[in-house]
Parts: sequence; structure tokens; C-alpha cells
Amino acid sequence: MELEVDIITTPKGFHCNLCNTDVPNKPSLDEHVKGRKHKTLTDVRATRKAQEERSVFVSGFEKDVSQTQLTEYFQRFGDVANVIIDKDKGVYAIVQFSEIEGQLTALSQLVHEINGRRLRVKPREKKGFKLINKKKTDFENLQEVLERLRPVLVQAETVNEQMQCVVERIQLSENKRKARELLVQLIQEVFTEFFPDSQILSFGSSVNTFGIHSCDLDLFLDLDNTKTFQARAKCPTELVAEASSDDGRSEDSILSDIDLSTASPAELLELVAAILKKCVPGVNKVQVVASARLPVVKFHYHQLDLQGDISINNRLAVRNTRFLQLCSGLDARLRPLVYTIRYWARQKQLAGNVGGAGPLLNNYALTLLVIFFLQNSDPPVLPTVDQLKDMACEEEECVIEGWDCTFPSQAIAVPPSKNEQDLCVLLAAFFSFYATFDFAGNVISLREGRALPITSFLSQAREETQEEEEDAMEEEQPRQPHNQTPKLGPLNLLDPFELSHNVAGNLSERSQHNFQRECQEAEKYCRSLQYLRKSTKGKPWGLVRLFTPHSDGPNRKKQDGSADKEMSVSIPFKLALLPEGLRNQLQQAGDGFRPLWFQRVCVAVVQVFQNVLKCSPGSSTESVLSGDPCHADVAPGSCDSMEATSEELNTSNDSGVAGQGSPRSGTAPAGSKRPLSSESSDASSPPQEKKPRLGSGPKPGAPCWTWTQTHAVWAGRRKVRRELIKETVDSRPEGSSTALETQVTDHIVEKEPQVKVPLVFTVQARLVGGTQSTKVLLKIHPPSEGKELLRDFFHFLEIFLPKMVDTLMEKSM
Ligand code: UTP
Repeated sequence: MELEVDIITTPKGFHCNLCNTDVPNKPSLDEHVKGRKHKTLTDVRATRKAQEERSVFVSGFEKDVSQTQLTEYFQRFGDVANVIIDKDKGVYAIVQFSEIEGQLTALSQLVHEINGRRLRVKPREKKGFKLINKKKTDFENLQEVLERLRPVLVQAETVNEQMQCVVERIQLSENKRKARELLVQLIQEVFTEFFPDSQILSFGSSVNTFGIHSCDLDLFLDLDNTKTFQARAKCPTELVAEASSDDGRSEDSILSDIDLSTASPAELLELVAAILKKCVPGVNKVQVVASARLPVVKFHYHQLDLQGDISINNRLAVRNTRFLQLCSGLDARLRPLVYTIRYWARQKQLAGNVGGAGPLLNNYALTLLVIFFLQNSDPPVLPTVDQLKDMACEEEECVIEGWDCTFPSQAIAVPPSKNEQDLCVLLAAFFSFYATFDFAGNVISLREGRALPITSFLSQAREETQEEEEDAMEEEQPRQPHNQTPKLGPLNLLDPFELSHNVAGNLSERSQHNFQRECQEAEKYCRSLQYLRKSTKGKPWGLVRLFTPHSDGPNRKKQDGSADKEMSVSIPFKLALLPEGLRNQLQQAGDGFRPLWFQRVCVAVVQVFQNVLKCSPGSSTESVLSGDPCHADVAPGSCDSMEATSEELNTSNDSGVAGQGSPRSGTAPAGSKRPLSSESSDASSPPQEKKPRLGSGPKPGAPCWTWTQTHAVWAGRRKVRRELIKETVDSRPEGSSTALETQVTDHIVEKEPQVKVPLVFTVQARLVGGTQSTKVLLKIHPPSEGKELLRDFFHFLEIFLPKMVDTLMEKSM
């Protein structure tokens, strides 16, 4: 009967509604119906139907009524097999009896009551059985969990409670954790058969106390003991006595096929993949990914719908997982903070690389950022890795691949933190810490618990090159891990143990920028009452608003590009783009590298305005800033004149900050200089106490130039460039060739009419860094006339100036 309903005839043969499958003819249909999928689904449907018939739908009870109370109450009508309770969508439960009599007896009773409240008890609605074909991704699964979380968070009383609730709702459940343990045991048993004495060790989110319900399973296959076993077995004198291990295993066929001491990682991974595929029941979709930083075999475990990875060279990851476990044990506030920040980062699309690759932060990096912040809170919530090392005893000493990974095995060995700030305060402090953090100028070290100036890594790179050259001259030696420098990028976060690894090395500049911008927005929000105070009207508050993804709607655009935005061009510090010579100079300057770099940027800025864009320096008697005459602090003009100012710039006081320092001299003659400012007074001290300085007017202690432009040199450049390129072989993109850009300007000046009123404007340069990302901010002050025109020029400069400055800096030295 059911078969008749399930199967329908179609123009192309038959369609099975149950399995949502097409088959072309009767023999295939017979095959299908006898097949495993159809049979399984028929059985599942029958079970569900029987369950439905034995169940009742219950509503009307209070929120605090537990599953046990419901079970106890309904037990009087018959044996209760299961109670499914849902308090998110509304308060209701499905009570499933073992026998249909239980359901009938419960329904025959007219009045039901628990804790004095009347219950509504009715037969369970019968839903048609439907195969949900579309497989949900982990992300979709998580999104569903999060959707259900919203109303619960709105109901919570405090942000602290909300954060605890986030943990409870999205953490890896105990059952799932146990199921994973069983799978690891199963894989271990299989691998022991092939690789005697091998060990399968879990690491990553499944075991590091920060796992979410859909997280993957990271495994490390440790073959060290197997290698010893194989080596012994190969030794003829020991062969008889030791060729088999204690339990009688011998060097069986796999080990006789491959020599573990010489096999390449790729060969080993192929072998691991073959064993997984053929010998571990339930494993499918096995794939070797040899191109990853650490090559892995990926697999899927059907029964748990679980994605797993096996690597063979990842002892450090097992150790850093232990470190994360220890940190969780040291302070109970870490887990709620990490879960909340991971959730926030996911909603804002800042983290969540699939497989660790990609331009976003991975979860490990995000967790380390939280730990680093907690090391820097006042007083610290967590100790530094160096401090932990000192607290370890001799037996806990651990060195892996030359890296010191020593820390206590038990949290009890570490004195508790004196910091008593609650979660709500710490979360807000996390955002303000990173909102103003100088990512460009620093390297984050959890080892030392402080930000190290990036210049110390330049020196490492130099020493390494020298050593390499010396080594090459003597004899070829394997490189020690300690000699390698981390890959520096927009965000530099050193692994706590593998100090040559920047765990955020994959991050793109845009991702780093987005991370910091989101921290700034979150910081602002955390200062509002909507963060701190529960809405009495049931409106989103606290974490709910913080977690709201961006709509990317017009409001957001308005924030970024509103017409009354101040005109400020930013030139970020990009270490990688600087020429070797300048990098060496910066390295010699040590902590004072920022003013030196600033001075170079100023030189380039003057060159762009004067030589490339043909702006003429303003007259020394001219004042364009109302009430505050401003002339060229660093004389606009030739590069030489800038070089002349550099000495003083170089020796300028690094502790001067914008808005502070020597009072502005309104009568300074053109070409005179003032000390440069920098906020980099102490890049290593935790910056969370300091607030970014906001200000609108020109600041003392910052060079300032007045320029005049008589032509719209920003308009129609692309067309002119195209035409010029036809005539020359120079086809580089905008901003990458000084000669071409100068030609473009010359062409416009020559061919186009002058603007009605010459544009006279002031550019003021300011160095920020130390408590903000290192960059030069060029603030453009509009003239009293021609503001609209200047805005057009500004929009062009926003893109053109940083590119052109990079080009000039690359060529400098
Ligand atoms: P993930 O970034 O995948 O973190 O790194 P996770 O906590 O497991 O999160 P999801 O849920 O799977 O995305 C997994 C583990 O890999 C090691 C760490 O042990 C980390 O816990 N790892 C990762 C490193 O050792 N270095 C890295 O740069 C990245």
C-alpha cells in the first residue's frame, strides 16, 4: 500500500517520493525498492509513525518545569519512553509513551495540572514523513542554533548571564564528545593493526574546551614508536627476540612495504588514506590534502556526520591544545569570553576559515587574541607563557621540535588571578584593547605577554640572512627552527610555542582592517545603555545587538562616506613594501622606527603634491586656517629640502602626541620645522587604557603644508593615461609609475582650462601608532571657497596618494 503511494510513474520512468529518486524502468525500480536506502527510509518512517501514535503534545506548563517533572507526571498513565521539551519557540513538550495505551489513558483524562497550572494535552500532530535531501552545512546548523538563541538571550537578566548562555547553547555536548572519543578509539584500533605502537591523539576544538557542536575532529597520528618498532625489526641481531611487540604483533605487510624512516609525508598520507577508506567502517570522502601548511588526510564519518582530519606531523598542535585546556582551567571567564567573541566574529564575518586557509582569522588565532588580551588586563587575568614555564616542575619540561613547550600540567600549580572584573566588563575591554591596537607596528607575543616592536623582527631577519650566508660559505646545514622569522603581515600573532609561526599570517589587509573596525564599533556599542541594561520591552539588548550581522544597507554606507566626513587620507605602515635599505634603517632605529618612517612618508607626500600633481607651495604670508595661520612646517619643495628637515624629524621626541607637544607656532616661516609627533611612546605597554585622540582642527607638532592647485588634475586622468600608454611602453596601473603620472598631470595642465578659483588648501600630516595601527594621517583642510571642488580632489587623493607614496618609498634609498 505504502509502495503505491511512494512510487509514481513519470514520463521518464518512475519516481520514488520517499527517497526522492528517479529510476528509468521497472527492473531498476525493483532494484531500488530492494535497496538499502529505500529499506532504511521505510523503517525510519515506520518507527516515526509508531512514535507519533504513542505521543501526546503538551503545552501550558511553566518555563521552569523540567523534563524529569514532566516524565514523573506522565508516568502515571503508562511507561514514558522520551520527553522532548522546547522552551525556545514557545513552551511545549512531546511526551512519548512506550505503548499506545499510555497515550490513550493520558488523553482520556480531562484535566492535567503541574505546579497548579493547567496543561493542554492533545494527540500529537501527524506529519507526513519527508526526506530532507539538502544536507545542511555546519554553518547552517550553527545559524539555526543561533536563531534559537536570540529569544533566550533577550530574556536573560545580565550580559554575564547571556555569555554563560552562549556557552551552554553552542558548546560541544557531552554526548557528542563521548561519541567522538569512541570514534577515536575505533580509528586507534584499526591503525594499531597496521602501525604497531602508533598513537592517535586528538587536538583542536574537539578537546580544547572551546568546541562547538559542529566542530571538526582533528587527529594526529604519532608514528614515532612505530618507527622504533620497525627499526628494531630490521636489525638482524634483534630480529628473533624483538620483531614482535608484547602482544605478539609483528612487522606485518604494511610495514614491510614502506620504510617509515625514509618515506615522504605524501607517501605516508596516501597510506593513511587507504587504511581509513578500506578499514574504518563508516568513513567516507577520504582525501589527501598535501598542499596545506601541515598536510592532512580529510575524511567524513557518516554516523556522526562529522568532518575529520588526520595529520602525521603535528605534535606541537597537541601541545598547544593542552595549553588552551590549561588556560580554561586557570580562569573560568576565558571560555565564555572565547565563545562570545567567536560568535561575534562569525556574525561579523571576521573569522571562520574553512580548513584554516583563507584571508580571515582562524579560531585558534582568535582564541590566542583573547588570551593575549587577558594577559594584558589590569591586573592580569592570565599569566604569560614565560611565567607559566617558571611555574612548571622538572617532570613537566617539554621541548618539541626545538621549541620550549613547558608549562604546568595542572591549573592548581598557578596562583589565581587578582582580577575581579566581570564578563560584561572584560568583553567591552577586549574590544577597546583591539580597537586601538597598533597591529602594523607590533608583533603579539603570548610568550612574553606583550606587544614586541616589529623592528625586532627585522633584525632577526637580517641576522638570519647573515647567518645563512655564513653557513652557505662553510657547509650546508639544516636550518634550526629558531632561526626562521615569522611571516610578517597586517596582523602578527606569534604562536605561544612555535615562535617562528605567525598564526594570523594568512590574514589579508582588508580582514585585519575589518577586525579592527568591528572592534571599534563594538567598543562604542559597549559604552551604551543598550549593552548594559536589559530592555523592559523585550527588545534586543546586550549581546543580541552585538551579534547582529551587518545588513550592509544604506546606513552603513552613510557612516563611511557621508558628505560631512572630514577629509583625511590614511597611509598605512606596510613593512613588506619597503626597500631593503629603509628596512635596515628602521631596524637600527628600534622602537623609534615610527618617526623615521614618518619622515620618509612626508618626503614622498611632498614629492607627490609638488612634482607629480604640480601643486605649488602656498605663500608664506597666506593663512588658510581661520585664526591659526599655518604655513609649511616641512617646506614643500624639492626632495632635498625635505632631506634637510629629516635630521630634526629623526631626533624628534617620540613621546609627543597629536594634540600635545610643543605649542603650534603660528608665525613659523615657510620651511621651518616642528618636532614630529607619534603615539608610540611605549608600544609594548597594554594600550587598553588609552583612548584614541579625536580632534578636528590642526594639531601642534605636526607638519603642515599649504598648496595651490589651478587645474582639475584629478579629472579625466584615466583617459589621458590610456592615450599616453599607447604612445609609450609604460602600461603600469595608476600610481605605480612616477614618470607616467607626472606626464598625465602635465597633459591636463597643458590642455585643460584652469579652475575658476584656484584651490588653496592645507595638508597636515600626523603620525599615529603605538596605541593605534601605525599610519600617517593626512588631514586636508578646505579653503573658504571651492569646498566642493576640494572634495573631488580629496576623493582622488584618498586612492592615489597612498599608492603613489608606496611607489616613491619603494624607489627611495
Ligand atoms: P582551528 O583554527 O581549526 O581551531 O585549529 P579550532 O579551535 O579547532 O576551531 P574549529 O572549530 O575547528 O574551526 C585547530 C587546531 O590546530 C592547531 C591548534 O591546535 C588548533 O587548536 N593550530 C591551528 C595550530 O597549531 N596552529 C595554527 O596556526 C592553527
